[in-house]
Amino acid sequence: NTYLIIMAGGIGTRFWPISRSANPKQFHDVLGVGKTMLQQTAERFEGIIHPENIYVVTSDEFAGIVKEQLPFLSEEQILQEPQRKNTAPCIAYAAYKIGKKNPNATLIVAPADHVIIKEIAFQNNVRAAIETAKEDVLVTLGILPTRPDTGYGYIQFHPSESISKTVKTFTEKPHLELAEAFLDSGDYVWNAGLFVFRIPVFKKELEKHLSRLAEQFEEGEAFYYTNEEQDFIRKVYAVCKSVSIDNGIMEKAQIVKVILADIGWSDLGTWKSLYEIHEKDSNGNVIDGNVMVYDTQNCIIKTPNDKLVVIQGLQNFIVAEHENALMICPQDQEQDVKKFVEAATYLN
Ligand code: GDD
Ligand code: MG
Repeated sequence: NTYLIIMAGGIGTRFWPISRSANPKQFHDVLGVGKTMLQQTAERFEGIIHPENIYVVTSDEFAGIVKEQLPFLSEEQILQEPQRKNTAPCIAYAAYKIGKKNPNATLIVAPADHVIIKEIAFQNNVRAAIETAKEDVLVTLGILPTRPDTGYGYIQFHPSESISKTVKTFTEKPHLELAEAFLDSGDYVWNAGLFVFRIPVFKKELEKHLSRLAEQFEEGEAFYYTNEEQDFIRKVYAVCKSVSIDNGIMEKAQIVKVILADIGWSDLGTWKSLYEIHEKDSNGNVIDGNVMVYDTQNCIIKTPNDKLVVIQGLQNFIVAEHENALMICPQDQEQDVKKFVEAATYLN
């Protein structure tokens, strides 16, 4: 009675030029392990979720890629969004659709673009989260923070002996000073972006905090699992609010619990984060491609195998080539990748 909802509709701009709006990072083998991030996400739940209960929510333009990468999915299991409206509508769609068939199901909502190295620990945490969700709460996984990253949600919790802790506050993407204060206080964990709840509990919170969204998806009751579903969804998405579950629900809900997870987690959001989790060679380089390096240290280099790349005297850079674009950028200026993508619109 438990379903996995994989959110795979983001476009991962900070990973340009590998990640493109037409083929974003979750559909790539970013780690060079022979599987895409989406495939790894699905596999991570083996033994917990029956393949028939795995649903992927994504843009309609990516439905074909999803089907190719996870061929066991039936058409019903790929939920197609006509527009990107962030994660609250994405989750609402899945909850109302699955809720039509199975109103009391438990949903695990997971991003398609994270790395989790400690798979057994992860599975144990997920099992604990499913148990905790029976208390009619929204459950998240929390990660010990290592830097004042402003790209994450911060969770403050009541200390307790129990594996799941009651959440005091949830702050999505704080500004830097606040993130620093959170980190210093030692009371906060990062939200890992994975949520577990029973459908009725989610619906109730949606009605409370995003009532219009709840109404809009509720109205589809008659259409889910029929030929009219896509038409209905197109109309809803044309008008519904764009909002994340974090801002829209998690920050406001009073019934959140967090499970502290030591799972080798990384939100592979940026080149630097990819560099950090990789094993490096003796010069501190991470190299994937046909590359000859001399006097080069602490670089991440990812280039196509059919091109010889020679690098002399480079330190702390990102060198990334994919199809028709090559980017060379100092690691400490990688926040500018967004700027490049905007400027290179025809290649984004
Ligand atoms: N289907 C669909 N539709 N998926 C989406 C959409 C959408 O419109 N927008 C985003 N996603 C997917 C992304 O592909 C990703 O897998 C996941 O939803 C989360 O979206 P992000 O845009 O990556 O969120 P974030 O990283 O800024 O923040 C979230 O994750 C952090 C941890 O990585 C928040 O939950 C933070 O609180 C959290 O710390
Ligand atoms: Mg993310």
